[in-house]
Amino acid sequence: MMKKEEIISIVDKHYLPVFGRYDVVLDFGKNAELYDIDGKRYLDFFAGIAVSILGHNNPALTQAISEQAAKLIHCTNLFYTEIQAKTVEKLTQLSGFQRVFFSNSGTESIEGAIKLARKYGKKNGGKYKIISASNSFHGRTLGALAATGQTKYQKDFEPVIDGFEYAEFNDCADLKNKFDDKTCAVLLEPIQGEGGIIPADKEFLQTAAELCEKNNALLIFDEIQTGLFRTGKTFCFQHFEIKPDIMVLAKALGGGFPIGAILCNEKTASAIDKGDHGSTFGGGPLACAAAFCVLSKAQDLSLDRNSEKIGAYIMEKLNELKKDFLFIKEVRGKGLLIGVELTKEGGPIVKKALEKGLIINCTASKVLRICPPLIIGKKEADEMIKILKEALI
Ligand SMILES: Cc1ncc(COP(=O)(O)O)c(C=O)c1O
Repeated sequence: MMKKEEIISIVDKHYLPVFGRYDVVLDFGKNAELYDIDGKRYLDFFAGIAVSILGHNNPALTQAISEQAAKLIHCTNLFYTEIQAKTVEKLTQLSGFQRVFFSNSGTESIEGAIKLARKYGKKNGGKYKIISASNSFHGRTLGALAATGQTKYQKDFEPVIDGFEYAEFNDCADLKNKFDDKTCAVLLEPIQGEGGIIPADKEFLQTAAELCEKNNALLIFDEIQTGLFRTGKTFCFQHFEIKPDIMVLAKALGGGFPIGAILCNEKTASAIDKGDHGSTFGGGPLACAAAFCVLSKAQDLSLDRNSEKIGAYIMEKLNELKKDFLFIKEVRGKGLLIGVELTKEGGPIVKKALEKGLIINCTASKVLRICPPLIIGKKEADEMIKILKEALI
């Protein structure tokens, strides 16, 4: 077995240097725990960026993937498989959408949603403009990057794709102002994740829905981070009395196995013709086996309710910490997608927590992001708060 230093030096030497990594070499996981190659234990309150909702090494997920791998790993979408049928059925039942397309990641799902919107717009008056929000994040491929309303991600890769505009997040007047007869869609995160765990106001989402409805444009929700049992509901849109035309998923869907999905209503799907989009790997049997297992297990375990309950408990404890630590500006979020905004940089606190055996993250430079596996209970929550408190001192 390689030594820690050797592993780090090989990766640092040869991997494209796009990531700022921690000096930790992970070996295995169990539920909400991760272990490094030296046997040190970490409590995982990050879940690989809101991915591993069933925790690590979930026996049912391992079994579903292993059994499918032993049967059929890949076959392309030129053929039908039972596991794809079961996954499509489960997702449509859970969400109320009629149509599904599987991709392999979040950014790829956003690309597909952009194409869906553009095709719908083309068939409905030659519209092409997509409005997203300032401070949003939708991914790093060129279409998704154009939709991402933060110049820091775009500036070195200009020119960005044409036909995108950004409305101030939670500013109804600005959204109305930007919306015109060329607008085919409005794309929003119901809670901005990378932007700092900032929930959308109901009024803002309602304004977007009304504008789209009135002008025959599509409302797209990016639920890549908020979706799937994390916010206290199966999908975050269910907190608002709003149903988007398209919803985009990824992250949690495969519980760690790469799979993304675009869900839409029949109205949207009717604009699509054979050959408009595709994917060699998307919706393959192995990915579907993982997703079907994750969806079934999460439903059986009522992880939405667990997120709500434990999320509320953690928020309460964090608000107690806020009284002791004056540099905590705000605690916000929904369910188990929680942000702790500081008046100072969060990076050093994340590092200190890591040294003490807790994995959390910092986003938007001053917001500590807490997004654990959804199987955690009060015991893990208490341990997290204890370590976090030590890291804040
Ligand atoms: C809201 C949102 N959209 C899109 C993406 C991109 O997803 P991926 O990294 O799977 O491409 C992310 C990733 O963090 C995200 O949080």
